[in-house]
Amino acid sequence: MLKRGLRIALVQLAVGMDKKKNIEAAVEQIHKAKYNGAQLVALPEFFNAPYGTKYFNEYAESVPDGESSRALRRAAIDAGVCVVGGTLPERSGDDLYNTCTVWDNCGNLIAQHRKVHLFDIDIPGKITFKESDVLSAGDHITTFEYLGVKIGLGICYDLRFFEMAQVMSKEGCSVLIYPGAFNMTTGPRHWELLGRARANDLQLWVALVSPARDTEADYVAWGHTMLIDPWGSVVNELDEKPGLLCADIDLRMVEEVRSQIPVRSQRRTDIYDTISHHDDES
Ligand SMILES: *[C@@H]1O[C@H](CO)[C@@H](O)[C@H](O)[C@H]1NC(C)=O
Repeated sequence: MLKRGLRIALVQLAVGMDKKKNIEAAVEQIHKAKYNGAQLVALPEFFNAPYGTKYFNEYAESVPDGESSRALRRAAIDAGVCVVGGTLPERSGDDLYNTCTVWDNCGNLIAQHRKVHLFDIDIPGKITFKESDVLSAGDHITTFEYLGVKIGLGICYDLRFFEMAQVMSKEGCSVLIYPGAFNMTTGPRHWELLGRARANDLQLWVALVSPARDTEADYVAWGHTMLIDPWGSVVNELDEKPGLLCADIDLRMVEEVRSQIPVRSQRRTDIYDTISHHDDES
């Protein structure tokens, strides 16, 4: 075990149409991760359901009493790890959200992030995809602490918004975790680039967690779950197949980079700054 760090596992899960099977597969991987020494296990976006606006309603469930939440809570307790539950379609009253739940090793729900930026595109004659037809957007930036490590959460498209990551960094995060499912166009172009950009600009660890690629699915995910260090280097990466990435996050590297390249203390916040409007609520 690292003195100043955390051993994490990122699960590139094969997700199919059968919710029960998806949940079982996730739980199995959580135990496998524990066996590999992980203290925190992160699942991909939509770990329990196929991705696509037409599926959100059918697969949605409440947090924390839905079957997926209950299974994650149980797995966190049984394996004795923190579970970052990728995302699931959450039903809350009449609204649906794309939601990440985080369970500590005692089964407490310690964070719940609802995707802040909904992905809406409409390119005439090409592609229309509007999450906002079905989903509501979250209004909060979410961070949590586990074993003394401050961690920030974003979901897929949230990764593109630097300011959100910067707020999490300002709140003291050393690690950002993004469950996400980029597609076969944006994946090769931007998945790694954006992850490395966030890591490099903010000098922290970034974990990107994708479902495995299923070429038969409506939505074909890029895969390439990866861990990026505060120097901006990819230290570990999966290909497109189902897999489990286990790695040590060394927090000393955060301090090392920040002391060697002191952009954090040399920012000219007298001429520019990023502020959070949620400071008063946290
Ligand atoms: C993936 O998403 C991009 C950005 O919205 C879109 O332009 C592209 O057509 C999509 N690619 C595939 C293969 O669906």
